[in-house]
Amino acid sequence: MNTQVINNGSSPSPTTNNDRMNDLKAFDEGKTGVKGLVDEGIQTIPSIFIRSLKDRSKDLSTCHDNISVPVIDFDHGSENEIAQEIVKASKKWGFFQVINHGIPLELLEEMIEVNKMFHEQDSEAKKKFYTRDYFNKKVGFLSNHDLYQSNAANWRDTFYVNTMLGDFDPQELPLISKEVIMKYIEHMLKFGEQILMFLSMGLGLKSEYLGKLECSKGWSLASHYYPPCPEPELTLGNSGHTDSSFITILLQDQIGGLQVLHQNQWVNIKPIKGAFIINVGDALQMVTNDLLKSVNHRVIAKKIGPRNSIAFFFHGLIPSEKKYAPIKELTSEQNPPIYKDFTICELLTQLSSKAVDELGTGYFKL
Ligand code: OGA
Ligand code: NI
Repeated sequence: MNTQVINNGSSPSPTTNNDRMNDLKAFDEGKTGVKGLVDEGIQTIPSIFIRSLKDRSKDLSTCHDNISVPVIDFDHGSENEIAQEIVKASKKWGFFQVINHGIPLELLEEMIEVNKMFHEQDSEAKKKFYTRDYFNKKVGFLSNHDLYQSNAANWRDTFYVNTMLGDFDPQELPLISKEVIMKYIEHMLKFGEQILMFLSMGLGLKSEYLGKLECSKGWSLASHYYPPCPEPELTLGNSGHTDSSFITILLQDQIGGLQVLHQNQWVNIKPIKGAFIINVGDALQMVTNDLLKSVNHRVIAKKIGPRNSIAFFFHGLIPSEKKYAPIKELTSEQNPPIYKDFTICELLTQLSSKAVDELGTGYFKL
């Protein structure tokens, strides 16, 4: 059958596609991201950001404030109790918030401030960081890493540091924010190890088990800036997706907008001053054979803003030949492995070739 002649109206015609491609390129080549559009004073959003009616109508109703992800206080309970709480939350929600983690509040505030400064600096200076090659260029700035794969672009720009191909050179960091970012990274690496220890304990593994998987060797930091949006109901700040990482540690400011899919409803993750949001990624779901859940989440666009958030992903190294598989101690005859072996490279090839909303663990199912 000649499928070219079939057009049921659900896919855009080739002409629209060409138009869209030209618009995407023009936006990309402008190198000033969404913030650049807002600075121009636009009152309506360009079509590349508009989600299809079908996608918008699929939106599930949002369950506002009556339920929320667990908040875990590191100042309360024994290590074992904290470990149990973390694993319980990771099974039920795939997300939790941590308070009293010991990382200085001033550093969190400085990091948000530094993010704002980067995105709000003179656009000519910012353009020098702009790139699409976010694996090879280890420090950079871009808008929408899946710009050419997604159906609709997101209302968001991102400054990033990516060490998944190996170490980065701190000299590449923006001069004014170098010290703060370096200090933040140092704390994140320690905090991540601590979370991996709690997760190991709570899963009944040796406390160093997950840390030894080398997931903290290749990490990335995505420092997001979500400008105010004139037509927030037509787009998203970050499309629904799961993270491909083992774990992600996220810092958000007080604007709000992050939602997690729980029992088929989008639930707001309320900003708590000084808290970190932690979530399980696809890699951890797979090595725990689905015991822990990598859960869909998204960020809605808002009229108010900007919103700042800093995501820190523990991924593992792409060049590593290490094969990951469901952990033997967590599988049995009654509960056999449901995933095949994978390397970090295989996992991340998915990330760079697909739109974020098409990712997930499905590809690796046995
Ligand atoms: C991400 C993410 C959420 C946020 O970067 O993967 O989900 O609040 N970010 O920015
Ligand atoms: Ni995410």
